Amino acid sequence: MLRQLSSLTALLTVALATGTNAQQICNGRAEYCSLIYSNISQVASHDSAFVGLLPTENQHLSVADQLGMGIRFLQGQTHVENGALEMCHTTCFEEDAGSTADYLSNIKTFLDANPNEVVTVLLTNGDNVDPSLFDTALSQANLQSYLFVPSTGSGVLPIGDWPTLSEIISSGKRLIFFLDYGANTSRFPYILDEFSYFWETPFDTTDKNFPECTLDRGAPAAGKMYIMNHFLDVSIFGIDVPDVALAGRTNAVSGDGSIGSQAALCESMYGFAPKGVLLDYVDMGDPMGAQLALNGLS
Ligand SMILES: *[C@@H]1O[C@H](CO)[C@@H](O)[C@H](O)[C@H]1NC(C)=O
Ligand SMILES: *[C@@H]1O[C@H](CO)[C@@H](O)[C@H](O)[C@H]1NC(C)=O
Repeated sequence: MLRQLSSLTALLTVALATGTNAQQICNGRAEYCSLIYSNISQVASHDSAFVGLLPTENQHLSVADQLGMGIRFLQGQTHVENGALEMCHTTCFEEDAGSTADYLSNIKTFLDANPNEVVTVLLTNGDNVDPSLFDTALSQANLQSYLFVPSTGSGVLPIGDWPTLSEIISSGKRLIFFLDYGANTSRFPYILDEFSYFWETPFDTTDKNFPECTLDRGAPAAGKMYIMNHFLDVSIFGIDVPDVALAGRTNAVSGDGSIGSQAALCESMYGFAPKGVLLDYVDMGDPMGAQLALNGLS
């Protein structure tokens, strides 16, 4: 009996050690490994390519440093300049942060160096160009082998059918790529149509308390994740620019106007927390703390 018990204990110990795979960490936390992608809330860098100290620039940290601090969801605007896809703000005259291929190369470098990380990219198609331009930029950045393709192929993956983070990591298809307009999944099954998967709250908010969570783009809401636009603008001489002065408050975990307070309002309306929270100046406030809180972690 004793002998049987001790071999049972030995078996259990082995099972625990291998079965729970103590080493497995997905996007920085073991808890995320068994969650399906659509059940995880992520903070995101809004206009991630516009880095600098000008009033029109939305971020202080480079794209590589945003990834380095833990941001796994990057949003960016594109426009076409001289036939090439560029990371441009409203127009390429206002701000041109270089080619989309170069921007995407930062993500390739990161994915190569970090095999347990899943990155989401959401680009806007400002000039409504053919999705082949995005396909070309992804190829130029050598990202094709990382692109996630839903099990439904060109069809929309139902919200509950997403794989877990652990499954995404084992598949190696660790880049989830969305385009706001112009996707055609029959031609490019890995360039996902944003509004088939998400709806969005209003952007260009100038009320520092973010008192609403209405559906702005991407109706209907049913069966979709949603993105909470939580970046504050301030009007300077009639031009809206990111409000750097209040970014610490805006990007706080809790308190008036914080990520936590707007997310709580959204959750009370829609039953679950936002899956993407777009932020300016991810180096200010505590976006990573807010992300943990949104996922019930600390
Ligand atoms: C997790 O996913 C299921 C299936 O889509 C959904 O019913 C549930 O609301 C989700 N929970 C969260 C917190 O996202
Ligand atoms: C998507 O591509 C398919 C195949 O080339 C084409 O038949 C279809 O018209 C395209 N859809 C849109 C909306 O452009």
